[in-house]
Amino acid sequence: MKRNILIIGSGGREHAFVKALKRSPNLGQLYVLPGNGGMNGEATAVDLRPNDFPAIIKFCKTAAIDVVLVGPEAPLVEGIADELELEGINVFGPSKKASQLEGSKDFMKEVVWRYNVPTAEYKTFTDAGEAKKYIRIKGVPIVVKTDGLAAGKGVTVAMTVEEANRAVDEAFDGKFGDAGKKLVIEEFLDGEEISFFVISDGKNVIEFGSAQDHKRAFDGDKGPNTGGMGTYSPAPIVNDFLRKKTFEQIIIPTINGLARDGIPFKGFLFAGLMVDGHGNPKLLEYNIRMGDPETQSILTRLESDFVEIIYAAATGSLSKIKDVKFSSDSALCVVMAAKGYPEEYKKNFEIDMSEAENSAEVKAGKAMVYHAGTALSSGKLTSIGGRVLGVTGRGATLKEAFDNAYSCVAKIRTPDLFFRKDIGWRELGRGK
Ligand code: AMP
Ligand code: GLY
Repeated sequence: MKRNILIIGSGGREHAFVKALKRSPNLGQLYVLPGNGGMNGEATAVDLRPNDFPAIIKFCKTAAIDVVLVGPEAPLVEGIADELELEGINVFGPSKKASQLEGSKDFMKEVVWRYNVPTAEYKTFTDAGEAKKYIRIKGVPIVVKTDGLAAGKGVTVAMTVEEANRAVDEAFDGKFGDAGKKLVIEEFLDGEEISFFVISDGKNVIEFGSAQDHKRAFDGDKGPNTGGMGTYSPAPIVNDFLRKKTFEQIIIPTINGLARDGIPFKGFLFAGLMVDGHGNPKLLEYNIRMGDPETQSILTRLESDFVEIIYAAATGSLSKIKDVKFSSDSALCVVMAAKGYPEEYKKNFEIDMSEAENSAEVKAGKAMVYHAGTALSSGKLTSIGGRVLGVTGRGATLKEAFDNAYSCVAKIRTPDLFFRKDIGWRELGRGK
């Protein structure tokens, strides 16, 4: 049956949603709020603010929306799912309370600790003196995290006591506003980091792919932390052993524990895991949404009907979906960002896509360009954000996916953009 869908968001993740939904025969009308310059012709843009809930509700009723798919965390943490559901509108995304898994590190640690999920040992502080005493006793390396959302900047992995103490002082001095009034200080975990995704309707859970992200701005994992400069999927270290452990020890106890606590979790659950040398996962963090740019590489491989999955999950009938199928191909996404990102960056420069759009890779479906910070003004594509494009290659091997992605990147000749040249280094360096 045809479903009308409204996507909330404007990034590369949401463009990947658009393209995956368009592949379904069950898609009715597709709207995106507010969308970006690359979605023109693929979805109808809705010119409303993602936090204007009354206007969104009105729009959903007028446009007979069957399900709202929320991309970013902010509207979820602000309670968009609760507001829509009160009006009888189906939404795929967690309630305000369940969104605290990402919105408050203290909440997240308290619940998962109670559910016996393997995670770093921690303590929560509202006083600088107490926090520093704990750092002195525990020693370094140690990790200092603001309790609330801080646009990816609230985490300090401190190698020295001075660095850890500085992070404490900065947070309590107001660098992150209310988000830093409370701090979680936790044990440093060593290993290989992966992003593991599931989809839940509150009761049933299905795996929804894995990926590895590159968070630092420059090659060799140097430079400042970013929202993510590139990903590949699947994460090659995810085997049946790791999958089983992750489900049994982390995902299922969390979903069941939350349901028992009266906070059923509906939506995408993104587990950031640290996997040790013996293949044992520990939970670093939960996000209550898909990752960006993980979605770009994961959804490129999706073979199941995305409309059916989202609709079933949003309406509590995920049990009807037997499994979610992904291609055995690999996908690799290279983020092209505006020079200066993640600090002050250039805006409003023109992006020339013509050569990439007409390239053999794109025409053969071996590469696709997901837009993020782009806008169309008077027929011209311009940049309006830090991360501008997510060029994604696919292939039978990760190396092929890498080659397809970078050969398309080379055709986007825009000097104000930069990108990492080593996405996938960890795996490709192993000789795959
Ligand atoms: P978060 O926002 O909690 O994901 O933290 C950002 C990044 O900091 C993670 O992706 C990890 O690379 C790193 N990180 C967070 N917690 C820890 C930890 N306990 N041990 C080591 N690295 C961590
Ligand atoms: N790429 C990491 C994130 O979406 O949080």
